[in-house]
Amino acid sequence: MTDRPMFLMTDPGFFDVCYQINPWMRPDAWRTDPGARLAAAKAASAALRRALEGLGAQVETVGAVQGLPDLVFPANAAIVLDGTALMARFRHPERQGEEPVFREVFCRLKRRGIVREVADFPEGVFQEGAGDAIWDAGRRLFWAGYGPRSSKASLGVIEKTFGQEVVGLELASERFYHLDTCFCPLAGGEVLFYPDAFTPQALAAIRERLAPEARIEASGEEAEAFCVNAVNLGSRIVMAKAPASLTRKLEARGYAVGEVDLAPFILSGGAAYCMTLRLDRTSRPEPKLIAAE
Ligand code: ARG
Repeated sequence: MTDRPMFLMTDPGFFDVCYQINPWMRPDAWRTDPGARLAAAKAASAALRRALEGLGAQVETVGAVQGLPDLVFPANAAIVLDGTALMARFRHPERQGEEPVFREVFCRLKRRGIVREVADFPEGVFQEGAGDAIWDAGRRLFWAGYGPRSSKASLGVIEKTFGQEVVGLELASERFYHLDTCFCPLAGGEVLFYPDAFTPQALAAIRERLAPEARIEASGEEAEAFCVNAVNLGSRIVMAKAPASLTRKLEARGYAVGEVDLAPFILSGGAAYCMTLRLDRTSRPEPKLIAAE
């Protein structure tokens, strides 16, 4: 392993929007011109990969599988920290077929020494990977979403598997169904989040742990553009096409925003963060990054 950040992404060759398991999914829109939509999706995925590689990251590719259109969202495959991959259990039957595919991917990564251990949730406990369990490197804890997709019972399993603190955050709506749609910790210690996505208790837990200056609140428009679903590397943030209000807010904090047109994936309810899965995270204390670097 090198020091370069390493991500998993999936070949979008069989991406499709043909069922609806979240309110953003638009099979009707996809059907108007599937050929053009797929071509646009391939271009969007390639652009995201180039953006990450341009920031020095390496990208491992999962092969496309016909009949598993949402395989393009590997953030939902597993939670990965310190070489341990805790494999997801999907709530919806539409995505459960991804489990054996991702398991095979992780077994292969293990043979190559990229992960050391592959672990599982007990049966009946749903958990949708890093989409609902986000490592906060500065605070050295997991923020874990539950409600629409992941079970509350997943929190204790995450804590035990990784031996790290887990802050559970109940999601209040089906629209922001994974934590990564509404919550994004940044390298400088700030968190970009959309308050309306959380229950009052979850919001209280966030505010208790984040000093006011660490809170960057996204507006409804910004969250609906899937811009909170972003990949942060140091002072750089890669996200879907963003309202100017958001780029301004982040630039004022010293971040540079790189935008990629991810419209075809937003038709499925996902964007930059969930189209990737970071494989090289460790719980070692990281030197605090100065956002303006
Ligand atoms: N269509 C997919 C689903 O509903 C989108 C998943 C996006 N993933 C995410 N972590 N936000 O499951």
